[in-house]
Amino acid sequence: MHFSTSIASALAVLSATANGALVRVNDFGANPSNLQMNIWVPANVVAKPAIILALHTCGGTGESYAQTARFGTLSDTKRTWITIYPSTKKDSNCWEVNTVKGLTRDGGGDSTGLANMIKYTIQKYSADTTKIFVTGASSGCMMTNVMMAQYPDLFSAGTCYSGVAAGCLAGSPGASPGSADPTCANGQRVKSSEEWVKTAKAMYPGYNGSYPRMATWHGTGDTLVRYANFQEQLKQWSGLLGVAFTKNTTNTPQSGYTQMVYGDGTKLVGYSAQGVGHIVPVHDNDDLKWFGLA
Ligand SMILES: *[C@@H]1O[C@H](CO)[C@@H](O)[C@H](O)[C@H]1NC(C)=O
Ligand SMILES: *[C@@H]1O[C@H](CO)[C@@H](O)[C@H](O)[C@H]1NC(C)=O
Repeated sequence: MHFSTSIASALAVLSATANGALVRVNDFGANPSNLQMNIWVPANVVAKPAIILALHTCGGTGESYAQTARFGTLSDTKRTWITIYPSTKKDSNCWEVNTVKGLTRDGGGDSTGLANMIKYTIQKYSADTTKIFVTGASSGCMMTNVMMAQYPDLFSAGTCYSGVAAGCLAGSPGASPGSADPTCANGQRVKSSEEWVKTAKAMYPGYNGSYPRMATWHGTGDTLVRYANFQEQLKQWSGLLGVAFTKNTTNTPQSGYTQMVYGDGTKLVGYSAQGVGHIVPVHDNDDLKWFGLA
């Protein structure tokens, strides 16, 4: 009696203090491009949790990105969200942001598999469908732009580090530094705001609802994904969100960074990082504030 009571109380202590960990999920639905799904569910996750989809860089994996963008670890304290850290294993582990199927809603590319991971997680954990977020760095930021353009009804907000506008790599033979047409990364795919809006809307024709809020970060010293791509993203999202540039706030959130505010700053902001190269370090706590999860 005494023995089993101690075991029970030891187990209770264990489950109260246990942390989440990254776990592979094998059957999440249609996965036309063979992505890997990894999920971090904090112990004692709240009812109706939020979901963050966190997308790695080229050459990265979900496992490595969980160390860079610590949404999993941070959720162990708050317990209010689940993080999905997927991996792609093709094209030097770069996300498919160049092909027709990859740039079409439910078109059978990486974006289809990623959307299915979210739908699976919503179902399985009864997640709050008003709190679904996406973030990523470099190639993961390119895919963040694509996911927000293709599934504007799924996401409420996104954040993005050192990427390009949705559709910038359309038609390129690949999406990795070695396989891509360099025009986009070099910052030479320049369009008007109206043209970028058209490019994004072509990924989900007929959609007339609102688009997710966006906070995007870029370094002025980026020689791999040139700084000009920051302005192209801002043009695209200012058009999609219907907000114009309002003001700059310097040294925000830290010295050398300028926060570029659009509208009242609740739908679109840019963070220009003076002298920072590829990639702007992930500011996960600022991301959580943007998502309303801090
Ligand atoms: C918006 O889209 C919905 C669903 O496709 C459609 O029923 C509605 O008529 C559209 N509204 C406008 C103003 O186009
Ligand atoms: C706002 O800041 C950005 C980034 O430093 C800069 O390129 C732009 O010229 C600034 N705009 C104004 C109106 O000061």
